[in-house]
Amino acid sequence: MSRPKISIIGAGNVGATTAHWCAAAELGDIVLLDIPQVGDMPKGKALDLMQASPIMGFDSKIIGTNDYADTAGSSVIVITAGIARKPGMSRDDLLGTNAKIVGSVAAEIKATSPEAIIIVVSNPLDAMVQRVQQVSGFPQKRVFGQAGVLDTARYRTFLAMELGVSVEDITALLMGGHGDTMVPMPSCTSVGGIPVTRLIDPKRLEEIVDRTRKGGAEIVGLLKTGSAYYAPAAATTQMVEAIVRDKKRLIPVAAYCDNEYGVGGYYVGVPAIVGAGGVERIIELDLEPQEQVDFDKSVVAVKELVAAMNNLSL
Ligand code: APR
Repeated sequence: MSRPKISIIGAGNVGATTAHWCAAAELGDIVLLDIPQVGDMPKGKALDLMQASPIMGFDSKIIGTNDYADTAGSSVIVITAGIARKPGMSRDDLLGTNAKIVGSVAAEIKATSPEAIIIVVSNPLDAMVQRVQQVSGFPQKRVFGQAGVLDTARYRTFLAMELGVSVEDITALLMGGHGDTMVPMPSCTSVGGIPVTRLIDPKRLEEIVDRTRKGGAEIVGLLKTGSAYYAPAAATTQMVEAIVRDKKRLIPVAAYCDNEYGVGGYYVGVPAIVGAGGVERIIELDLEPQEQVDFDKSVVAVKELVAAMNNLSL
């Protein structure tokens, strides 16, 4: 049986690290693509990664390229192309540049891998995923964005650090946009089955949520030359795995919500079942009053971002 083809567009920090995790987990054969201006860089990274395979014990094939023909017939495409944040920049500052980039990438994918499932990682995420769907015209369930798995992982990390317990024992959910308005869901957060609210007082929990909201900026401030990539790539890999192994994972993703949660046709972070069909089902919860207020605020922010993008001449 041949392996699924996983193409990663943008061979920078997030893209190359996603290739690394995907290869290590033998999720498929991997194509790493970047623009001709960077020359053979993707080929170099792919060859380097291939040479790790005898040591790490994986048989995934990895190639680097500047040519979309090599990505043809991909099962999954991950878009990490674009520019990353520098200190002082918000994700929204990337809007115009990255909207043009992901739009051009979506057009290439449409022509070469019309059956692919697309995971968008480029920021500002909620607008970029909308753009990719607009340009590709793919069914909405085959285009979605990575944000919630990362945000929730950051939250779980901080909770584990606070409580001195294994990260594996923490399950949590964050909804809404990938930005300062993300919505924590204390009612859906537990530690070994114990509701988190029985272990951490509300004030401290709010501080942890606040650190989570600013989790990306904290890393940008430390790195100074770019933004986070290990955790974003790990989160993306979990989504690739959910698709190629048809895992039916219940994870937060930026999914297209029409009637769901009354969103009205935008991509917003919601819990969803992800499997071979992409976003197979969105899980609708009755939100608690404060969660609903926060979610509505987050949706407004997403709509404003998309409106700003649609007003640009792209
Ligand atoms: N097609 C393909 N690749 C492109 C294109 C394009 N049109 N335009 C830019 N790229 C490539 C760049 O050449 C670069 O190699 O995208 C890569 C981006 O890599 P980095 O600059 O290392 O950025 P990274 O940290 O990987 O972040 C990429 O993911 O998490 C988000 O906010 C982040 O939007 C950013 C994206």
